[in-house]
Amino acid sequence: MALERTFSIIKPDATRRNLTGKVLGALEAAGLRVVAQKRIRLTKQQAEEFYGVHKERPFFAGLVTFMTSGPVVVQVLEADDAIALNRKTMGATDPKKADAGTVRALYAEDIEANSVHGSDSPEAAKQEIAFFFSDAEIVG
Ligand code: RTP
Ligand code: MG
Repeated sequence: MALERTFSIIKPDATRRNLTGKVLGALEAAGLRVVAQKRIRLTKQQAEEFYGVHKERPFFAGLVTFMTSGPVVVQVLEADDAIALNRKTMGATDPKKADAGTVRALYAEDIEANSVHGSDSPEAAKQEIAFFFSDAEIVG
């Protein structure tokens, strides 16, 4: 196992319901450490670029509307095997299919408003971290 960093978003459905602390607590309880964090409102352009890989998917327009509908908390998380650990802690995209006890099983509203984002590969993590944070904002 190697110490690794991943990128995480606490999504607008969670900030709207005042669940930032609950979600963060679940991530920390799993062993993920916050090494950078800020609360921001994504612009339409940022959301479209961030989720650009999904631009041909039928849910793209709805996803961009949802991700810009309220504040988000963007984070860099660190742990041994942080990317896989975070994805396991988040649970499946669709909360109906998420394992019991995962963040999405506990808190997600539906397949779109599913409370958290997490990078799915080392390449994505590197790119997503750089999209939102400068090196000086990351304090391990
Ligand atoms: P994420 O990228 O946010 O961590 O989520 P993920 O890997 O589990 O899922 P992905 O397939 O990358 O989808 C990105 C986000 O798009 C929304 N979505 N909506 N309405 C739908 O069928 C649908 N499918 C996906 C979700 O917010 C999902 O997290
Ligand atoms: Mg994804």
